[in-house]
Amino acid sequence: MKDILTLGIESSCDETAVAVIKNGREILSNVIDTQIPIHEKYGGVVPEIASRNHIEAISRVTKKALEDAGITFNELDVVTPTYGPGLVGALLVGLSYAKALSFAINKPLVGVNHIEGHIAANYLTYSELKPPFLCVMMSGGNTQIVHVKDYCEFEVLGKTRDDAIGEAFDKVARVVDLGYPGGPKIDKLAQKGKPTIELPKTHFENLDFSFSGIKTAVINLHHKTPDINRADLCASFQKVVTEILIENVEKAMKMTNIKTVVLAGGVSANTYIRKSFLDLKDTKVYMPDLKLCTDNAAMTGSAGYYNYMAGKRSDLSLNAIPNLQL
Ligand code: KG4
Repeated sequence: MKDILTLGIESSCDETAVAVIKNGREILSNVIDTQIPIHEKYGGVVPEIASRNHIEAISRVTKKALEDAGITFNELDVVTPTYGPGLVGALLVGLSYAKALSFAINKPLVGVNHIEGHIAANYLTYSELKPPFLCVMMSGGNTQIVHVKDYCEFEVLGKTRDDAIGEAFDKVARVVDLGYPGGPKIDKLAQKGKPTIELPKTHFENLDFSFSGIKTAVINLHHKTPDINRADLCASFQKVVTEILIENVEKAMKMTNIKTVVLAGGVSANTYIRKSFLDLKDTKVYMPDLKLCTDNAAMTGSAGYYNYMAGKRSDLSLNAIPNLQL
């Protein structure tokens, strides 16, 4: 069978990324132009600044992705941009570029859901991984447990009722003066602390999550006890957040009788969370290669491939959908 080359394009937040993927599984190139140093001084992503920087970067990043893969535009089979969820102005840059490119080179366009992309990061890490499995999707904008029934068939079993898990990491980090992006900084500091501080957990009958209660508790503790050991506070926060995730995953495994659990999204880079999931008994656990946890276009190209093979096609009327769901 002929090889299929997809061009993944990702600009949903603060990374401009383009990648060339072969048959959904092999990375021929993966270029990421991060804006983290630009947004760091504001303590978070400024949407308008993100859009402007995507515009400045997109052609350069695409050119480099093709050069690294050693191919020309005409050798591509399909152009697969992220069209949601994310910041609308940021999404529109990658999407508009992809639409113009697909028209110019006369190759199909297939819009990709960013959440599907995060799940697909695992197909690039493990050549043997195939659905069905349970996915714990944990990123800056999403937290959900998904039953991945097939490559393009999903059932959301539970999701956050308030903050996304990454959002909670970032807000806690900002309050305890660690800066942006908070997740990796909490991860590092927590390794020097002990999880000795008691924090609240919110439970639901179903598989939903809540992270705002624990986030507020950490913030209040920090304000009321200025000399609190920040490393212990971060370690305690991480421990409780991980317990919340694992309790729900165990419920989901019981409910579906599926024993394969796949982690996805930026927070799946967390050292403590990765270790805790690997310690789960009688469970086969997969997690993306560290460089594929946070936003990249390799995952978009992989998800794009599976959508393309399933017959999905987008046309030039495709618009960005900031709150796109699975
Ligand atoms: O998946 P992602 O790159 O963007 C979205 O699609 O939302 O996730 C970004 C989130 C941020 O909240 C960041 O703080 C968090 O992932 N993150 C981490 C770690 N690395 C990134 N959180 C905890 N520990 C980490 N090591």
